[in-house]
Amino acid sequence: MVNIAIVIGAGSSIGGSLINELARDESVDRIVAVGRTAYPEHAEHSDKVSYLRSDYSEESISAVCTELEPGKGSITRLIICNGILHTDEISPEKRLEDISASSMREILNVNTVIPLLWLAKLAPLLKSKSTCRVAILSARVGSIEDNRTGGWYSYRASKAALNMLIKTAAIELRRRAPNVKLIAFHPGTTDTRLSKPFQRSVPEGKLFTPEFVAKALLGLLRTLEPDTEQEFFDWDGQPVPW
Ligand SMILES: NC(=O)c1ccc[n+]([C@@H]2O[C@H](COP(=O)([O-])OP(=O)(O)OC[C@H]3O[C@@H](n4cnc5c(N)ncnc54)[C@H](OP(=O)(O)O)[C@@H]3O)[C@@H](O)[C@H]2O)c1
Repeated sequence: MVNIAIVIGAGSSIGGSLINELARDESVDRIVAVGRTAYPEHAEHSDKVSYLRSDYSEESISAVCTELEPGKGSITRLIICNGILHTDEISPEKRLEDISASSMREILNVNTVIPLLWLAKLAPLLKSKSTCRVAILSARVGSIEDNRTGGWYSYRASKAALNMLIKTAAIELRRRAPNVKLIAFHPGTTDTRLSKPFQRSVPEGKLFTPEFVAKALLGLLRTLEPDTEQEFFDWDGQPVPW
């Protein structure tokens, strides 16, 4: 059976490194990489990788899923990387006066709605005899219990909502697709576009490379079984409180 890994949000730095690591993994036969651009800048060329474009509309997500019809192999890994903290127009809020409805909607759409749409539309294709490990990139700042510093309202809320959706979907999948293990993953502060403006305050040795994080996530996934209870992990394989 052809062993397929899917990376959604392939244009992200972490996504690019995941694609490169998966391409080097002999147990993976084919990698499907999905993103807004045809050739993500961070991924190296490999014959094992097929790139599919998506604008992340519901129609486009459905169209990609149709190309992945069952019978073409077993999906054993699915990793969803989409997430924004800032854009040219949006900065993370420092105080209540900074709240903007349109910025909040955009962040919730990219960080929460789009990952769940992918999970919902891909779920029927994940059920099989093989174990399928699914990770959605979340963030520790989405942990309500761990919120000590405040700020970043929209980003925090979008990841907290994502975490709740992951927890809820994990409960449903346990019943409907017992071969699937779904987790939320906190990569730690990683040297990417997303963290660039905020790297000055990161303690020495705590700014990770995307390659390090990709290896950490793929290593963690290898250790997880569908009956593993925990669902929110960090880069070190440690549980993060919801
Ligand atoms: N870097 C960190 O320190 C850090 C810390 C905690 C959590 N994370 C999480 O890790 C994940 C990967 O981020 P990264 O650090 O690798 O950042 P990145 O390189 O900036 O990647 C951004 C990702 O978001 C997607 N994206 C951007 N704008 C979008 C839009 N308008 N609609 C849909 N998708 C959009 C991109 O999709 P395309 O592939 O289509 O371009 C890409 O997958 C994110 O979920 C982030 O929240 C990162």
